[in-house]
Amino acid sequence: MAQTLSRGPVSGTAVKAPAKKKPFIIDLYATAVGKKYVMAITGLIGIGFVITHMIGNLKMYLGVVTESNGDQIYDLDVYGEFLRELLVPILPRTYFLWGLRLVLIGAVLLHIHAAYGLTRINHGARAVKYQSARDYQVANFASRSMRYTGIVVGLFIIWHLADLTWGFANPDFVRGAAYYNLDQSLSRIPVAILYIVANIALGIHLFHGTWSLFQSMGWNNPRFNAWRRNIAIGTAAVIVAGNCSFPIAVMAGVVEYDPDAVTHPVEEAGE
Ligand code: HEM
Repeated sequence: MAQTLSRGPVSGTAVKAPAKKKPFIIDLYATAVGKKYVMAITGLIGIGFVITHMIGNLKMYLGVVTESNGDQIYDLDVYGEFLRELLVPILPRTYFLWGLRLVLIGAVLLHIHAAYGLTRINHGARAVKYQSARDYQVANFASRSMRYTGIVVGLFIIWHLADLTWGFANPDFVRGAAYYNLDQSLSRIPVAILYIVANIALGIHLFHGTWSLFQSMGWNNPRFNAWRRNIAIGTAAVIVAGNCSFPIAVMAGVVEYDPDAVTHPVEEAGE
């Protein structure tokens, strides 16, 4: 009699389902090189913002301008309104500005995340310290100073928003009156000093950052190193000079809110 061999389904075999492949970009970000790219690109976004912000703030030196309806208004306040009106009527008011803010917030968070990740990778990799004392000191100074100046700049941004955007760190704050708020804020000597110190820290951070972003992006041909250095020094120097000039100009009375110079003066508290 013919026998039929029947076999039940095979179970418990050790065949592993193939690991799900992560998207390339996630795999790249897991490596030190990927994190360096992210630091470089988000750093460039930050530099772009800082330069644009400084150029915009230079408008405080232009004083009062006459609008098409004959109103006298501080040019810095015109600029603030221009930013809120960007791409109107294609988009509703402030939408584009919010888009830019989200890109900036994303860039700052990624920059911090990648920096933290890189520090962890470096600590893990450096089981044996650099053999050359000089290399060790140079590498350490750069990375340590980046960490400290980065923390100072981060804390400054939080203070700065509380001072001039949200207003709770500035008792005289009036929403939408940038020139007036600036004068009220930077007339306080400790605040003016804080702005100067924070912007010097920003300059040091930008100098090392600009220098190393060329390295991270692979733009480090020895023939360009003099250029690299000049661009790093130039960027940092322009930002520090421009930004430090603002508190100095307010303290010196060069920038001073004058309610008689404008058509709609800010109602000063208590008057
Ligand atoms: C002395 C130097 C600076 C001055 C005088 C200054 C001035 C101002 C003013 C007046 C505003 C409010 C604009 C408005 O709401 O209409 C503002 C916003 C802001 N500032 Fe500065 N700033 C300085 C440096 C910096 C630096 C160094 C950073 C970043 C590293 C920075 C980041 C920001 C950010 C993120 C905002 C909010 C922008 C927004 O809400 O769209 N500022 N600044």
